[in-house]
Amino acid sequence: MGSRRPTLQKKLLAWLLGPLLGLLAVDTVVTWSTSSGFSNHAYDRSLEEMAREVVLHVRPGAGRPVFAMPAEAERILRVDQDDRVYFKVSAADGALIGGDAELAAPPSPVTPGQPLFYNGMLHGEPVRVVAARVPVGGQDAAQPLAQVQVQVAETLNRRSRLTRDILASVFLPQLLLILCASAAVYFGVRQGLLPLQRLRRAVSARSHLDLSPIEASNVPGEVMPLVDEVNDLLRRLGTTLNFQNRFIADAAHQLRTPVAGMKAQIELALRETDRARLQHSIGQLYHSADRLSRLVSQLLSLARNEPGAVESVALHTLDLNALALEVTMEWVPEALRRNVDLGFEGADGEVVIDGDTHRLRELINNLIDNAVRYSQDMGSVTVRVAAGEQRQLSISDDGPRIPVEERERIFQRFHRLLGSHVDGSGLGLAIVSEIAALHNAHITLEEDLDGVGNTFTVFFPAPRTRPDAGAQPGHG
Ligand SMILES: Nc1ncnc2c1ncn2[C@@H]1O[C@H](COP(=O)(O)OP(=O)(O)OP(=O)(O)O)[C@@H](O)[C@H]1O
Ligand SMILES: [Mg+2]
Repeated sequence: MGSRRPTLQKKLLAWLLGPLLGLLAVDTVVTWSTSSGFSNHAYDRSLEEMAREVVLHVRPGAGRPVFAMPAEAERILRVDQDDRVYFKVSAADGALIGGDAELAAPPSPVTPGQPLFYNGMLHGEPVRVVAARVPVGGQDAAQPLAQVQVQVAETLNRRSRLTRDILASVFLPQLLLILCASAAVYFGVRQGLLPLQRLRRAVSARSHLDLSPIEASNVPGEVMPLVDEVNDLLRRLGTTLNFQNRFIADAAHQLRTPVAGMKAQIELALRETDRARLQHSIGQLYHSADRLSRLVSQLLSLARNEPGAVESVALHTLDLNALALEVTMEWVPEALRRNVDLGFEGADGEVVIDGDTHRLRELINNLIDNAVRYSQDMGSVTVRVAAGEQRQLSISDDGPRIPVEERERIFQRFHRLLGSHVDGSGLGLAIVSEIAALHNAHITLEEDLDGVGNTFTVFFPAPRTRPDAGAQPGHG
């Protein structure tokens, strides 16, 4: 088995785990981005709070505002466990009033009353910055209202750590969940596919001669139709094999006797010195060879038409009337030779059936052959075709009546009536009934209407296609 084809197990796992991992990725990204959005928002508020704290220490001065922050307050503001804090106060014209000069101006102008948050770099480190414009002074007329710009920046250590924490707390449990689910799916699928493994072992352990049905009690419902089909195939194979075995046995048995007879005849002929007697022996040999050749062709015909051994026969519409007439005409010289009056009574028009021309010829030939061969001298044989719901082909003769108790048996292969001195292999009627079965037709055998002889009638079903759909004249 070890092929590189993807197994059902691998496919199932891929189909189940692929989407699960996809879900994990999407879920992680979504959870991470919403929760880090929330926490960024909270950190930004505290940054804004620091800006407000800085503004508290700006006072309106004589020319421009003055920044004066007690050293203790500045220390508290700047010292943080995780991050460094920078700030800068500048006048409306951009001149530095206090704080860290190296803090760059905001990327865009700041609207008063609307703090601006942005990311920047300071001393080669990423920072988050808030910039705000606030009015200072204005309590008395001597000190007019002035605008100052305050910027507060902090490094991102705390924020990055929080992001990492969130990622870890979201991703790890989900990854664990997926791993557990994968294990469960893997074992589940394995367990589910066990019956298939057992089935495979049962089939591979079989002998090629064992055509009994595959045991299917533990097979899952999805596989049952396949097992049923295989069992059906085995059954059909068994039928064909049985037929072939029986055919080979029959053929060997049937051929042995005439071949042995011919050998004996040849030995006799070889010892013959009298020319006339030699001539006679060779004549006998010729007859034996003729009988043997008939037997061989009947055996082959039997094999060709065995319903269990042939593929379904392709039937086409044909005119039974024309075909029967044609075959009857071919028998006229032989009938004349045997002094038999051969007649044909056809239907008025076409009699259309679904049939196989070659096989039907064989059927009619065998029936006429029997009628002519077993008829008395000066006897008469009539072939009739009649239309109707069931199309009928009948062959009547006035030979010896076939006893009622023999009427079924003569259709069996190799069965011949006792006391007949006419040559035959006993296969003709077996072939006839096989061909009839291939046409869904049935055969009856009755005494002839006048009380002498026999009538074989074959009833064909009406054709499946339109009754008068261009029938072929019988040549097919
Ligand atoms: N029309 C008939 N009249 C009398 N007996 C018949 C007639 N048809 C068949 N039988 C009897 O039935 C037997 C079986 O016929 P079947 O055609 O199967 O074999 P066969 O004629 O002996 O040999 P084959 O046709 O293979 O050469 C014949 O041997 C014969 O005894
Ligand atoms: Mg016959």
